[in-house]
Order: sequence, then structure tokens, then C-alpha cells
Amino acid sequence: MNAGLEYGIQGRRLGGKVALVTGASRGIGRAIALRLAREGAFTVIHYRHEEASAQALVEEIEGASGAAWAIQADLGTMTGIERLVRELEKGLLGRLGSTGLDILINNAGIASQGTLGATTEAAFDEVFAVNVKAPFFLLQALVPRLRDGGRIINLSSLVTRMAYPPEAAYAMTKGAIDTLSLLLAKELGPRGITVNALAPGVIDTDMNAQLLSDSGNRRYVESLSALGRVGTVEEVADAAAFLAGPDSRWITGQYLDVSGGSFLG
Ligand SMILES: NC(=O)c1ccc[n+]([C@@H]2O[C@H](COP(=O)([O-])OP(=O)(O)OC[C@H]3O[C@@H](n4cnc5c(N)ncnc54)[C@H](OP(=O)(O)O)[C@@H]3O)[C@@H](O)[C@H]2O)c1
Repeated sequence: MNAGLEYGIQGRRLGGKVALVTGASRGIGRAIALRLAREGAFTVIHYRHEEASAQALVEEIEGASGAAWAIQADLGTMTGIERLVRELEKGLLGRLGSTGLDILINNAGIASQGTLGATTEAAFDEVFAVNVKAPFFLLQALVPRLRDGGRIINLSSLVTRMAYPPEAAYAMTKGAIDTLSLLLAKELGPRGITVNALAPGVIDTDMNAQLLSDSGNRRYVESLSALGRVGTVEEVADAAAFLAGPDSRWITGQYLDVSGGSFLG
């Protein structure tokens, strides 16, 4: 971490803010972390396996005069969730002298292919553990540390606004995230904390690498969006930065679609 950059870069939009982005080693989480750090937030990069990518991101942020550090934790288990909370508190206290957090982005997630008939119990349990149980218990642990006026952004998906039977369990996990976002917005409103669900359509990440590697599939996906193309991680990060910043202070309990107008009817 760069010396003298406590609480990020003062004078920028998110200067003085501390952010945690889960699953920030690649894909959407990486782009969000980079964007928040550029806006001045002290950004904690959480990852599971991709240590080299997470460290490379920390270096990229520090190279641009930002401040970041990385924490490893497998959010598929309670032990991993507890590890993230423990390491976060220890690290923030050591680096910033306070365990306070301003922005929590629950982004880490996995896909799960399978209709109702084709989904195994193991696949169901795994996708619910990472996509639902982890954000729930992470929030349970971190909401008391979140400063008043804070921001929570939970990654939802287009698949909760349209029917997508091929990923039944995955779609259900994101439905749970929408409900969690709504009820927490009510609970945390008195503290000035906003809670929103951010819902990308098909974005060009590892999660869709197989799908988009087929040119026919790619053309089909492009045709779903009113804007006629596949979305980028930077476009999701732009929306996340809006929800994380002061301009969204009167927006809470909402589902923000970031799908380039897919399935408009
Ligand atoms: N891509 C899309 O089209 C799309 C659309 C709608 C919603 N979303 C949602 O957006 C979020 C990010 O998606 P993405 O496409 O950027 O995914 P991605 O490229 O596959 O990256 C997933 C991230 O989550 C982390 N992760 C996965 N399993 C984990 C676990 N058990 N414990 C801790 N971390 C774990 C990964 O860490 P490692 O790199 O260390 O493995 C990685 O950083 C997800 O919640 C996803 O459901 C994505």
C-alpha cells in the first residue's frame, strides 16, 4: 500500500471512503474495484483462487496513486466468510486505524447451468452457498461496521426480470439477492445507508466465455439488447460507481438493469 494514502485519495469523488469488492480478481468485480479506486476509495480486493490477478490489480491501482490491498477467502464456506471478516478488520485497523467501511459490493458469484430437471443437489447447494449464503452472512457481519451514509450494492442479474429456465438455480439465487436488497434498504434507511441490486445482462467475462466463443451464440446475444451488442465490465462498473457515490443518495431498494435494454418487449 502506498504510504500516506489513508482512506484513499482525498479530493476525489470517493476520497475518504473505504470499499470492499468481493470477487474482484477478474470480470465485473475487477472493473468495479478499479473504478472505485480511481474515484479515490481505499479499495479492498477480495479473491478466491486468482492471487496473481488480485495482486496485479493492487499494483495497477497503486501505480495510479490509488490505495488497495487484497484478501483471499473462499466464500463457499462459513469458515471462508469468517476469514474475510477477520482479515478485513485486522487489515483495516492496521492500515487505517479504524474498521469502518463505507461501500460493500457483493459481487463474487458463480454460474450454474441446468433446468429444474437437470440440477443436482450438489450444484444447487454450491450456487446458493456462494451467491446467497455468502452475501447474507457477510452483510450480517459487516453491516454493524458500515458507517452511516454507506452504500451496499448486490450483484443481481437480468434473469430475475425474464424467465430463463436453462439456469434455474442460478436465477433463483439472484431472485434472493433482489429480495435481500429490498428488505435491507428498508432496515438500513434510517442510517442513511442505501442498498441496491445491480443487474447486468450478458457481459463479456469468464462466466460467459464458452457461450460467447461461438459466433452464432454471440450474434444471438447481441440481438437481445436494444443497443445490439454484448455489454462490457466497464459499463457495469460505471453503474456501480454511480450507486456507490453521492449522486445516488436518494435511490435505495431499487433494481438497476444494466443490460443495454435486453428483453424490452
Ligand atoms: N457476466 C455476466 O454476464 C453476469 C450477468 C449478470 C450477473 N452477473 C453477476 O456478476 C457477478 C460477477 O460475475 P463475473 O461474470 O464477473 O464472474 P467471473 O468473471 O466468473 O468472476 C467471478 C469472481 O467471483 C469469485 N468467486 C467465485 N467463486 C467464489 C468463491 N467460492 N469464493 C470467493 N470468490 C469466488 C472469483 O474469484 P477467483 O477469480 O479468485 O476464482 C472471481 O473473482 C456475479 O455475481 C454474477 O452472477 C454476471
